[in-house]
Amino acid sequence: MNPGLKDEMMKKDLIDITDLTTEEIDELIAVAEDIVKTPEKYSEVMRHRKIATLFYEPSTRTRFSFESAMLDLGGSVIGFSSPTECSVSKGESVADTARTAACFADVIAMRHFKDGAAFVAASNVDIPVINAGDGGHMHPTQTLTDLFTIHMEKGGFDNLTVGLCGDLKYGRTVHSLADALTMFGAKITLVAPESLQMPDDIVAHLEEKGCHPRKTAVLEDVIDQADVLYVTRIQRERFPDPSEYSKVAGTYRIDNAILREAKNDMIIMHPLPRVGEIAPEVDETQHARYFKQAFNGVPVRMALLSAILGGEM
Ligand code: NCD
Repeated sequence: MNPGLKDEMMKKDLIDITDLTTEEIDELIAVAEDIVKTPEKYSEVMRHRKIATLFYEPSTRTRFSFESAMLDLGGSVIGFSSPTECSVSKGESVADTARTAACFADVIAMRHFKDGAAFVAASNVDIPVINAGDGGHMHPTQTLTDLFTIHMEKGGFDNLTVGLCGDLKYGRTVHSLADALTMFGAKITLVAPESLQMPDDIVAHLEEKGCHPRKTAVLEDVIDQADVLYVTRIQRERFPDPSEYSKVAGTYRIDNAILREAKNDMIIMHPLPRVGEIAPEVDETQHARYFKQAFNGVPVRMALLSAILGGEM
């Protein structure tokens, strides 16, 4: 890694994707690419280092890939995958749990159901804290995975049209991704029913940074122009009123019929889990990239941990 950038990233928290510069993200993408090609070079980089994965909310890909990343770098893992497994169930605060984890580990990856929880943890410990998803707010490491996937598939971000489709209100992955795509100058179309459109403060932020996203509720409006279609699950657990969820559940379903309108090389991404937004028949098409995207979570997090903890490469 470029030594200057490496020093910049050392010991840094990652709470929001905008904590990183485009140069730092480019560098992480380059290292992740190298990890895919020559994983053996990195197998001892985190020897005697430990990650604490503090997961207050369910996770499959994010936790597995943080833990796999640390193990593949020669390090080790402690943590919990549910708050019922530890003193959180006795009422311990995020700050105290983070302080305790910091006694035993070199870095914390935290997922929490409350917006801002990772920031609270980071404010209370001296070791780096990585936000592995905070409520309906942000999910920066999913975004690094998404950017890496787009880069591998499309060779960059210039002149790309990206459709973000589904739950843009509560979906934390699309909040972080919209910020990042704006940093790289991609064009964004926001596809969601009015009640699930991207929050105004995020759109205002994109506009301020020079991105003027188009909004529509109709998938057919974007399907023939998109280079990347990023689909998300409607986040049932974040609806204050369950009857509101039933009004929008099943709004979009990508199947082979709608894909007849798509560019041949359009790729479909999804952070997963999917619950009906993408028909299984799509898995067999040239468009599907969501499982590749899940796979990419490990090299990306390996690159990030190495940068933050300053492993020798
Ligand atoms: C997402 C999440 O947890 O925000 N999944 C993930 O991290 N890969 C998306 C979701 O739960 O819908």
